[in-house]
Amino acid sequence: MQLNLFEDNTALSEKDELIALRRELEEHNYNYYVLNRPTISDKEFDDKMHRLQLLEQQHPELFDPNSPTQHVGSDLQKNAGFKQMAHKYPMLSLANTYSEQEIKDWYQRVVKDLGGIAPDVVCELKYDGLSISLWYENRKLTHALTRGDGTKGDDVLQNILTIKSIPRYVDDITAPENFELRGEVLLPWAAFEKINKQREENEEPLFANPRNAASGTLKLQNPEEVARRGLTAYLYYFLTDKQLFDTHYDSLQTAKQWGFNISEAIRLCHSLDEIMQFINYWDTERKYLPVATDGIVLKVNELRLQEQLGFTAKSPRWAIAYKFQAEKQLTVLEKITYQVGRTGVITPVANLKPVQLSGTTVQRATLHNADFMASLQLHEGDKVWVEKGGEIIPKITAVERASNLPPSEYVSPFPTRCPCCNTPLLRDPEQAAWYCPNEDGCPPQIKGKIEHFVARKAMNIDGLGTETIDLLFEQQLIANIADIYKLTENDIARQERLGVKSAQNILASIEASKSVPWARVLFALGIRFVGETTAKKLSRVFTDIDSLKAATIEQLCAVEDVGEQIAQSIINYFKSDKNIAIIEQLQQAGLQFSLTDDEKNSLLPQSDLLQGKTIVISGTFSLHSREEYKLMIEQHGGKNGSSVSKKTDYILAGDNMGPAKLQKAQELGVKLINENEFLTMIS
Ligand code: IVH
Repeated sequence: MQLNLFEDNTALSEKDELIALRRELEEHNYNYYVLNRPTISDKEFDDKMHRLQLLEQQHPELFDPNSPTQHVGSDLQKNAGFKQMAHKYPMLSLANTYSEQEIKDWYQRVVKDLGGIAPDVVCELKYDGLSISLWYENRKLTHALTRGDGTKGDDVLQNILTIKSIPRYVDDITAPENFELRGEVLLPWAAFEKINKQREENEEPLFANPRNAASGTLKLQNPEEVARRGLTAYLYYFLTDKQLFDTHYDSLQTAKQWGFNISEAIRLCHSLDEIMQFINYWDTERKYLPVATDGIVLKVNELRLQEQLGFTAKSPRWAIAYKFQAEKQLTVLEKITYQVGRTGVITPVANLKPVQLSGTTVQRATLHNADFMASLQLHEGDKVWVEKGGEIIPKITAVERASNLPPSEYVSPFPTRCPCCNTPLLRDPEQAAWYCPNEDGCPPQIKGKIEHFVARKAMNIDGLGTETIDLLFEQQLIANIADIYKLTENDIARQERLGVKSAQNILASIEASKSVPWARVLFALGIRFVGETTAKKLSRVFTDIDSLKAATIEQLCAVEDVGEQIAQSIINYFKSDKNIAIIEQLQQAGLQFSLTDDEKNSLLPQSDLLQGKTIVISGTFSLHSREEYKLMIEQHGGKNGSSVSKKTDYILAGDNMGPAKLQKAQELGVKLINENEFLTMIS
């Protein structure tokens, strides 16, 4: 029967709502799975999805197989460089709920659908990462597909091979030759914090949570970088053409014996009570786990019963996820302030009416950048939801707008001038950031550069903390990093809470910093995007400041990990007369602006065993780092090639060699040598 929508106002508005929800949810799927930048909380997304499901049930005439209720969110990216492959079995999602009552309802429905059988249920943790499907052929890992759109996924095998807990081969001959194991790829909290710390140092945008960081990592085209980031994986779903097991529980316990990483936190439950106990236990205990979890997954244990229950278009009827509520509070966004970082990047900060969250008082939250602010349509005076879903940094996940504002006032305008020095701001086209270009005259930038300069990993000058730097700056005793070397005992000793003893210690530490090696001096200069590792790599190629100053973009880009953005930033740095003057003063003070003789000696040729040979390095190594191998090639008279060509004599191939390089090597007949063969060649 055709519903007359125009005579039924309720139906008309519900139809509009339904269509708007479909569009909105598709957009959120894209933000979450492709951009890794969700703009609403998981709970809000799930609530909208449930509302859409309800509307679709009430309006079956509006059924659309393309609705987000009928397919899983897709993480496929065009031109991402991965080969796409069809899944052997569709890769589905899970129905979910936040309510214990709905878990009971689900169980009762299952019992009813099974004609009165009350099945055992396996309870597992719901890991918050991204799903992966591992294919073993002849017991060898041959493909690793992301979920993609559920029917096809990206083959990210090279990146998955960097995960130590995933076996490349299964030695146990009791395992079938061909099978599939699905699970979740995760970035442990500790690794997530380390990456974000590094990104903060380099003033790169931070990952909002470990899931986004894991997803961004798995989609990198650089297995060595993936290996460095330290992903891990838990596996939770075994599939074969021939049924080998009677129960899901047995399949996982056996996979564990074959060497797979199966969580210990699994319980075979025989009643609803046991299920609830498991849920309640892990709701608090999960906070101590090394990886992020966002709920519990319940699965009917017996595979025969699973088959009987079957699937909907999007999820199995034999499973459901109970999701934990992220801890959150509603509070008032009192004021938005703007912080200026050492490289001038402006970070908006939400100043909140203090609230208690996970045992701490929260009164500030980062708003990341102008785009993030605009996506939430933030305005001072709005009520905002603050969440601490396990992440260290509290985040604003949603807004309850102070009602009667006209749309034009929804968004607090991002400043056009620097809040500290009033210089007109510029937008960095590469990033979502606005920055103040007045690097020599903007106080937080100057003080930030000094703080960076004295930091432990840079010049390691003790005793010059933020407060002391503030005091010395305000009294115009230091206006740049070179002024540190002009400080006298009296300058320091007369500062509040300092005295002669502290002044002497600080001066001794300043003196000691004069022998800090060139690589760290280069890092300490605070050139935008030149982090600790990049400085180290640059210092080996450009062994003194003069050669670095004279380097062209091409020469800089030839250094490993240096791209155009970093190269351009170095060139810009040396264009400033002020920077040149500071470097001259630092040179006069006696800092190390070149490699020491010892350092140089270690770089000198040691033989000509590789004379005339061009070697390309690819993959990850266990005996030495790539950097060390590069150096060894040069020390023995060889040349490091960046890409495989007819001129390449050898490829020094480690684990997870890039597929493009491998194919090229095969086409051109270039010989592959491993670490041991290379070390024998030069010994
Ligand atoms: S079972 C056919 N078990 O949650 C169902 N999924 O929101 C196969 N997830 O796509 C999935 N932990 O990426 C299963 N113990 C677990 C899980 C789990 C996390 C993820 C998985 C799935 C998503 C659904």
